[in-house]
Amino acid sequence: MINIVLFGKPGAGKGTQAEFLKEKYNLTHLSTGDIFRFNIKNETELGKLAKTFIDKGDLVPDEVTIKMLESEVDKNQHSKGFLFDGFPRTLAQANALDEFLLSKKQSITATVALEANDEILVQRLLERGKTSGRIDDQDEEKIRNRYQEYNEKTAPLMNYYKNQDKFHAVNGIGTIQEITERLSKVIDNL
Ligand code: AP5
Ligand code: MG
Repeated sequence: MINIVLFGKPGAGKGTQAEFLKEKYNLTHLSTGDIFRFNIKNETELGKLAKTFIDKGDLVPDEVTIKMLESEVDKNQHSKGFLFDGFPRTLAQANALDEFLLSKKQSITATVALEANDEILVQRLLERGKTSGRIDDQDEEKIRNRYQEYNEKTAPLMNYYKNQDKFHAVNGIGTIQEITERLSKVIDNL
């Protein structure tokens, strides 16, 4: 069983790459952002709560996010492994995930990061905002706030995984196919 954390700044291509990797490695793809958006669309209590944070580009509180993620993992008990996309995003989430997996006699195999320059990514998100309907893609101030949240709360996870010898980075700029190949090379060597 392999469990991969797909890591990267907003717009780095996590969701795009996950679509290919989940097929190639037979993994269950769990994107916390996608799960929140599904709940927002269906106007669930969780969705209403999450929306108040997401629309501003703030992270949703750990407690809510961790509970949701654990319940998604539990829904997929027969999975051959997970591809975590957009989770963990804080040290508390990373600790909770390690403990949760340990309780199932499992662990994170590796964290693979897509690296890219902020300015390129901001442009990508603004471009997507024209058609995505995502409120958090639509103005530059909200997008910049997502980068601030990333820098303050998520970037420290690189050291968390480096200290466990689990951190691998690939260049996230190139064609989608080139990047899939770079990620596959890392995963094949695990
Ligand atoms: P989430 O949905 O995770 O959004 P994000 O990480 O901010 O960014 P994206 O998902 O938009 O980017 P991505 O890296 O998946 O890139 P994509 O493939 O889409 O989170 C949204 C919000 O939910 C958060 O702000 C927070 O409020 C909340 N949330 C989620 N998880 C949470 C957590 N764990 N804790 C607390 N709160 C949480 O690609 C982006 C664009 O680039 C697309 O248009 C794509 O077509 C394009 N693109 C992709 N690859 C390439 C390429 N190689 N070249 C050119 N363009 C490309
Ligand atoms: Mg995504």
